[in-house]
Amino acid sequence: MEVERDQWGSKIGFILAAAGSAIGLGNIWKFPYLVGENGGAAFIIIYLLSILIIGLPTVIAEVLIGRTAQKNPVGSFRQLSQNSLFWTAVGGIGVFAGFVILSYYNVIAGWCAGYVVESVKGSFAAINDPAMAGEFFSGLSGNPLWTLGFHALFMFMTVGIIYFGVSNGIEKAAKILMPLLLFFMLALVVRGVTLDGAQAGIAYLMKPDFSAINERTILLALGQAFFSLSLGMGALLTYGSYMSKNDNLVNCSLNIVILDTFIALLAGFMFFPALFALGLHPDQGPALIFNILPSMFNAIPAGGFFRIIFFLLLSMAALTSTISLMEVITAFFTEEFNLSRQKATIFLGGVVFLLGVPSALSFGPMRDIHIFGKTFFGVADFFASNILLPLGGIFILVFVGWFWGMKKAIPNLLQGIQGRSNILLNIWKILVKFVAPVLVLIVLLFKIFG
Ligand code: TRP
Repeated sequence: MEVERDQWGSKIGFILAAAGSAIGLGNIWKFPYLVGENGGAAFIIIYLLSILIIGLPTVIAEVLIGRTAQKNPVGSFRQLSQNSLFWTAVGGIGVFAGFVILSYYNVIAGWCAGYVVESVKGSFAAINDPAMAGEFFSGLSGNPLWTLGFHALFMFMTVGIIYFGVSNGIEKAAKILMPLLLFFMLALVVRGVTLDGAQAGIAYLMKPDFSAINERTILLALGQAFFSLSLGMGALLTYGSYMSKNDNLVNCSLNIVILDTFIALLAGFMFFPALFALGLHPDQGPALIFNILPSMFNAIPAGGFFRIIFFLLLSMAALTSTISLMEVITAFFTEEFNLSRQKATIFLGGVVFLLGVPSALSFGPMRDIHIFGKTFFGVADFFASNILLPLGGIFILVFVGWFWGMKKAIPNLLQGIQGRSNILLNIWKILVKFVAPVLVLIVLLFKIFG
């Protein structure tokens, strides 16, 4: 017997939940440092083009698979491919990627929550330069009790939301967390741009320096567009499977992409004016958030307060992403093994927690255990975001463009859309069949061999 499937209560609920999946540490942590290391405004322009050329068309393709089949990634590919073993396995790669990504992403999310607690405790009050902050960070991330504790706490919050289902859990959480996130970010942007000397940071974000652009930056921008939109592992597919066939899929996808891009840009305006105002260089790299930023807040008026707000917003952005990862594997287990959602989430929460332990310890007791020259955490991240996601993305595009095919895809795409534009449809077709898969393949090869 088929279990009655939950659906989003509203179109805006779906958009906010999917945007919540997309908006995460990738937008707030990674995007700004990529901008800072790769030419500021020039990188932003390349990024926006990547979003347009591969981001949006792939979002549409991935959501379309889910909405048409109304199943988890494995079930969806199996159904639309009429039981092809190969395509079913492609869905399986997505679920597997979900496990891997969630296991280490949740560790970082836990740090964010841990930093909220440390900020409230006033732990940063006497930490006045980045070197000291770096030491403090190494101490915390290397402390098994601290990292594992917050890893567990974050898993508990994720499970706590998924437990209540799609409309009562994920959708409600997204409707509260997303507006709050935006509000907190705006507060920090205003704080940053009103500091003395912030002007230089704003100029950096507005004036492109094209001499900083080369093949490497273009590939970085393409890869970031892909990661930031949560593409390639069935997260948007799974969220799309709860979408009504009466809603306009293209319009929803456009909204998701615009929100994700807007928040990434806003993150730029949150960091750079403040960085320049405090006399720091823009190219701080991955250390920016946990090593440099906490001490920066001491130099600005009301910094202690804004530090708490900052780590809260970071935790909220991460939470809407961890729940979407958790939902992919939950949907798979409930539908394929006939488990109740409640049992599945508790079980999976435990499994993913354990899977994340070696990643959590990669900054402490296991920091010297290397596989292919990387820590366990490094391997998990490299394997998932550089290999599994682009590979999944190529499969999704080839599936929609060639195997399932446009003849079947387009009528399903048009369901819920009033009036059609043949020009836009043809552009989408060309991007999905030719342009996007080739570009993602190049990104994949560059990540492996580059
Ligand atoms: N998009 C998320 C971010 O920007 C990260 C991410 C990549 C992700 N793939 C995902 C999140 C799949 C959820 C599901 O941080």
